[in-house]
Amino acid sequence: MDFTGRTVIVTGAGSGIGRAAARLFADAGARVLGVGRREEALRETAADHPAIAVHPGDLRTPGTAREVIAAAAGRWGRIDVLVNNAGATRMMPLADTTAEGVADLFDLNVTAPSLLAGAALPYLRRSEGTIVNVSSTYGHRPLPGAAHYAASKAALEHLTRSWAVELAAAGIRVNALAPGPTESEALTAAGLPQAAVEQIKRDEASRIPLGRRGDPEEVATWILRLSDPQTTWLTGQILTLDGGLELA
Ligand SMILES: NC(=O)c1ccc[n+]([C@@H]2O[C@H](COP(=O)([O-])OP(=O)(O)OC[C@H]3O[C@@H](n4cnc5c(N)ncnc54)[C@H](OP(=O)(O)O)[C@@H]3O)[C@@H](O)[C@H]2O)c1
Repeated sequence: MDFTGRTVIVTGAGSGIGRAAARLFADAGARVLGVGRREEALRETAADHPAIAVHPGDLRTPGTAREVIAAAAGRWGRIDVLVNNAGATRMMPLADTTAEGVADLFDLNVTAPSLLAGAALPYLRRSEGTIVNVSSTYGHRPLPGAAHYAASKAALEHLTRSWAVELAAAGIRVNALAPGPTESEALTAAGLPQAAVEQIKRDEASRIPLGRRGDPEEVATWILRLSDPQTTWLTGQILTLDGGLELA
């Protein structure tokens, strides 16, 4: 895959799938803007990758989406690929559901991708660019105990389909990747104790037909494939990448 001359925004680039995607895009010739709250983590992603610039910011804060798009456009004058990867999960059984908990998840997993895509639109129109949304296998399967995470990803999948049709006439493709359980900071970031994280990882690996959790790089490779300029006729699709979990 060759992204020479293209500019890419990757949110959540300070760890996991986003870090791997930012580095793979840079290796493939793209100029990359990595976004996340922790500047130090973003700088680690960019180390030894001069084509990666960083933009620290909290995507739940109103105004950040516009700042991110302005930063990329100001730096390079064009935007070809928007990867809405930043996301968070949260255990929230129905009995413990709060308005704040729901809003927190949806602000990051649904509203931020929407505002970023909206702000990027003038540039994506010019470049006939593409959007890749990172959903989850739980965007189309139930997740007891974390229903609002699953619901937020279901929303992102449906936005993907709607935007794909809405933007097709402008030559903008919109697809989503729905990974299964993948090594990253996600479970720790959800506030789970280390023993619970290890137990969940073991349980997940045992349920996955291919016998293991995913590796961030093998997931990120598919973000590049979906946004590859040579992938010209694919839009509105949700690609599940989960070692067969969905079938089990
Ligand atoms: N790992 C899995 O098993 C799995 C499975 C299916 C789907 N996914 C999805 O894959 C995507 C990437 O997750 P990951 O697994 O790579 O987990 P991760 O390592 O926790 O990465 C999430 C990234 O999002 C950033 N982020 C979180 N809150 C943010 C905010 N308010 N503003 C800006 N950035 C924020 C984090 O950086 P900061 O903390 O520095 O902000 C972090 O780098 C997520 O959308 C997740 O839902 C993951």
